[in-house]
Amino acid sequence: MNLKNYLKILLLCCMLCGCNKARQSEAPDMEWWREARFGMFIHWGLYSVAAGQWDGKDIDGIGEWIQNFAKIPNSDYEKLAADFTLANYHPEEWVMLAKQAGARYIVFTTKHHEGFCLYPSDVSDFDIERTPYKNDPLKELVEACRKHDIKVGFYYSHRQDWREEEAAVMKNEYDGHYGKPKSEVKPDLDSYIRKKALPQVRELLTRYGKIDLLWYDTPFDLTKEQSRMFVDVVRELQPECIINGRVGFDLGDYGPLGDNEMPCARVSKDLEMVATMNHTWGYKKNDHAWKAPKDILCSLIECTSRGINYMVNIGPKADGSVPQPSVDIMNFIGEWMRANSESIYGATANPFNDNFPWGYVTSKGNTLYLHLLRRPVDNRIILKGMLSPIERAELLASGRNLFLSEESCSFTVPDDLDYERVPVIKLTCKEPVRISDANYMNENIISIPVANGKITPGAEGTLSIAEGGNTQNFHAGTGKIRMKFEVDSPGKYTVRVFTSRHWRRSFAEGAQITLKVGDTLFDSVVLEKNGELENVRQNSYPESWSDVGTVTFDKEGTREVELSVNKTGTFSKLGFFGEDIQNESDNNIRFLRIEFIRQ
Ligand code: GLC
Repeated sequence: MNLKNYLKILLLCCMLCGCNKARQSEAPDMEWWREARFGMFIHWGLYSVAAGQWDGKDIDGIGEWIQNFAKIPNSDYEKLAADFTLANYHPEEWVMLAKQAGARYIVFTTKHHEGFCLYPSDVSDFDIERTPYKNDPLKELVEACRKHDIKVGFYYSHRQDWREEEAAVMKNEYDGHYGKPKSEVKPDLDSYIRKKALPQVRELLTRYGKIDLLWYDTPFDLTKEQSRMFVDVVRELQPECIINGRVGFDLGDYGPLGDNEMPCARVSKDLEMVATMNHTWGYKKNDHAWKAPKDILCSLIECTSRGINYMVNIGPKADGSVPQPSVDIMNFIGEWMRANSESIYGATANPFNDNFPWGYVTSKGNTLYLHLLRRPVDNRIILKGMLSPIERAELLASGRNLFLSEESCSFTVPDDLDYERVPVIKLTCKEPVRISDANYMNENIISIPVANGKITPGAEGTLSIAEGGNTQNFHAGTGKIRMKFEVDSPGKYTVRVFTSRHWRRSFAEGAQITLKVGDTLFDSVVLEKNGELENVRQNSYPESWSDVGTVTFDKEGTREVELSVNKTGTFSKLGFFGEDIQNESDNNIRFLRIEFIRQ
């Protein structure tokens, strides 16, 4: 090789190494985050002082939005700082609450939409120094996390800042907010970002040591370039820090989901469900709609079974104490995790097509974990579609052996299981678990996730499957979805279609679909709301079902169902301005699954 060629190759190698490095620094290692599966969110700010009330009246909506919902001028709102005492602020207790529950990371609101900083900022005087508290609570929390080996995440609202005129979201702003008429307020988002948001993110990333996760929120009308600036600052200062999906434009290290949004099928992308324990993130003294501890635990398990993380929120009071129901929930999860966390940490999604009627499945290499929410019919579990022979079945918590039947994909569960405590059965196979991708009947239901169907695009654009596994852009003419299923018990079945809508919208009145089930055609059927599931996401993404008719399968075999939309229907907007607009443009029916229920 002559010198010229040698130099050329050398140059190429250097370039390749350089690219590699650049790429590495662009994408942080997600391993700790994937292994963790479980985090704890903390919403704490001046809104915690208001506690959901203004002028003695309860204000509807999520608590941390109270300034907006109650139309409180900045000059009044800032007075709350005097009562933000932190008198019972013991960050180590928060950290221990998370840790004993099994959460591996904490995300804390350093600045929410109200604009108030929970640390002393050089960029703004609307910060912790206005309160009676004399230290830096953020520093104390970070130290407590480090001490107990909990990863540190900072929430920073990067688009909204109700304190700053330049950041004003004008069309939604009310008169009097800034002490002058709306017409005199001149927003300048670039300037806000340059002067406040980015410098504050720099403070957060340079003053507190290693930060593991930067959690941005409500990108709203940011441009791609603006979102990218918030990514770049993290990459520059802390290349190992993970960035959440709400930074905007899919630029985060994992994808975004709406608040309390649970994927309705297995997902192949890194995602995180963030969830409330009642109906608010920031403390509201009169929100007593606490979800049951078992239901919150089941959300964690269900998220793992979909292959995503779960981060549950606590909203401490202004003095720093945590509402008792939140403590009880975290303790309940902790007790369960101490015996069963093996089925959560580092576990991956349910390899079967859908949840089972009795509960959720997670997996890890040669192992399956079955989480039982209720007694299986006849105490019997049959894993149709299981291709890998099972070697051993045992109760995870005690190691007690369960007897496997001959065909080895079915077994009987003991009579004495406590389903309130969600027992886990661990199945070990000789080989990495293999499952057929068909849809089978379990107990009396054939449940078919629409997300796993095959899409045929239509003339009017293409329907697709969104991050959360539900359909998007499903209108007349945008396409059809086909799904296969196995009938092993001939007879008459109810045909039930499950849809969900974002919580700011009502059920779509007059929506029409066409379903072909084998040779039976349900043509232009108007979807009636026949019922709504009572579950933890009912207040955010209510899941309703519509019975479309009945179908008779006269013999066993593979069948196909094909779904298309004739009319989207009309829905009314519910809720208040601004409450979670992550999915604002998603104004079509979200199909979750189709069930055939044996009569
Ligand atoms: C929403 C809300 C916000 C809350 C957040 C939590 O986007 O605007 O108040 O902090 O969700 O996920």
